Amino acid sequence: MLDQKTIEIIKSTVPVLEVHGEQITTVFYKTMFENHPELLNIFNHANQKQGKQQRALAGTVYAAAKYIDNLEAILPVVNQIAHKHRSLGILPEHYPIVGKHLLIAIKEVLGDAATDEIINAWADAYGVIADAFISVEAEMYDAAANQKGGWDGFRPFIVGNKVEESEVITSFYLKPVDGKEIAAFKPGQYISVKLEIEGEDFTHIRQYSLSDAPGKSYYRISVKKEAGLETPDGKVSNYLHSSVEEGEVLQISAPAGDFFLDTEKVTPVVLISGGVGLTPMVSMLNTVADLQPEKEVTFIHAAQNGKVHALKDEVASTAAKAKVNSVVFYDQPTEEDRENSSFDVEGYITKEWLKENVDIAQSDFYFCGPVPFMKAINAALKDLGVTDDRIHFEFFGPMASLEV
Ligand SMILES: Cc1cc2nc3c(=O)[nH]c(=O)nc-3n(C[C@H](O)[C@H](O)[C@H](O)COP(=O)(O)OP(=O)(O)OC[C@H]3O[C@@H](n4cnc5c(N)ncnc54)[C@H](O)[C@@H]3O)c2cc1C
Ligand code: HEM
Repeated sequence: MLDQKTIEIIKSTVPVLEVHGEQITTVFYKTMFENHPELLNIFNHANQKQGKQQRALAGTVYAAAKYIDNLEAILPVVNQIAHKHRSLGILPEHYPIVGKHLLIAIKEVLGDAATDEIINAWADAYGVIADAFISVEAEMYDAAANQKGGWDGFRPFIVGNKVEESEVITSFYLKPVDGKEIAAFKPGQYISVKLEIEGEDFTHIRQYSLSDAPGKSYYRISVKKEAGLETPDGKVSNYLHSSVEEGEVLQISAPAGDFFLDTEKVTPVVLISGGVGLTPMVSMLNTVADLQPEKEVTFIHAAQNGKVHALKDEVASTAAKAKVNSVVFYDQPTEEDRENSSFDVEGYITKEWLKENVDIAQSDFYFCGPVPFMKAINAALKDLGVTDDRIHFEFFGPMASLEV
């Protein structure tokens, strides 16, 4: 435990570090990767280049430091990050490496202002925060490996079917090479895929939500090909689309994540997705149809138009089997979409539409999509008085703020 003096130093220096937050974490990553290039096998290089990961880590270290004498208060955040860490294979021995380079960065950015007293206090505080992560992650490693059909680390899966779902989204049906059982998962959870691409110096790991209901003999992921406009094309998604064919083997870690449908609750749910954000929602939808066909579901999907609208027939046929109201929004419908009446509403999902069409007072809301889309949905739900305990969301990248 930390003494009172250390706690006071930490709390009084957090605001100073927050001002320099991104500068510190930028120096931190640069030095850490210089000294430990092997960590580039785990970190997403594109997130680094865009500064997303820096913001996420800086934000969490300072949030944790503010609550250093009451880490219980940030346990939900620790839990969410620990799921990601476990899915990536982060181990206890990685923590001292991060701690050492964080202190080096604090010293470098703050200069003389970083006295020995301050540095020692931060070393102690980092130790407490790291221990909290390590112990939560140890339980998760244990649970992942020891569940029925579970495993430790990455396990080889063979691509059974590869199915084009739209011009930009393709599904991969994955079965374990060993032919044994696979772990159950909660609808909304994801797996990590680790790729070795010929000619690349490092492995690349990415998360993909499981897009079908649990209880099958396969896992399904549905991947959007990320085209860069002025930036390079997305590495893993393009490789999966263009180079991974049926019969090839992918390395997969066991399902993870704290974003999942509460299948105990019987009150209505509203599943809202934008673009490829529909993958966890389809898993939830298919699960409700299997397990709780009496539950009221509103499935709202927003896409640009029919060309990029994935899993359309599957959603329509599942909706027909259960108490599901499925509504499709296109903001750029094509002539063909108009002729075939293949969407319900033109434009974006609005607060007014939600107010008129869903049970605001009782429903739980689950949403996922591009960050601006998520910000708009979150703001609409808050304005309509939906309480935080009924708002659930997933980021398809490092966590960010949804404040507008
Ligand atoms: C929990 C979770 C679940 C997810 N589920 C899904 C899912 O179901 N389906 C799905 O398709 N995706 C999903 N994702 C997203 C997925 O993990 C990948 O992020 C996505 O496939 C892009 O990876 P990539 O390797 O193709 O792109 P990356 O190489 O990681 O690039 C990402 C973006 O950065 C841009 N970029 C690359 N280099 C630079 C640079 N130098 N400067 C600036 N920008 C750059 C690229 O153009 C691209 O737009 C999920 C993510 C998470 C965290
Ligand atoms: C107490 C220390 C740590 C904190 C506070 C922390 C915090 C975070 C946060 C906030 C995220 C983003 C989570 C999200 O996706 O929303 C993250 C992801 C990640 N963390 Fe940590 N982390 C810590 C230690 C470590 C260690 C020791 C490693 C390994 C060396 C590590 C590797 C990663 C990786 C690889 C990602 C995903 C990055 C990406 O996809 O860009 N972290 N961490």
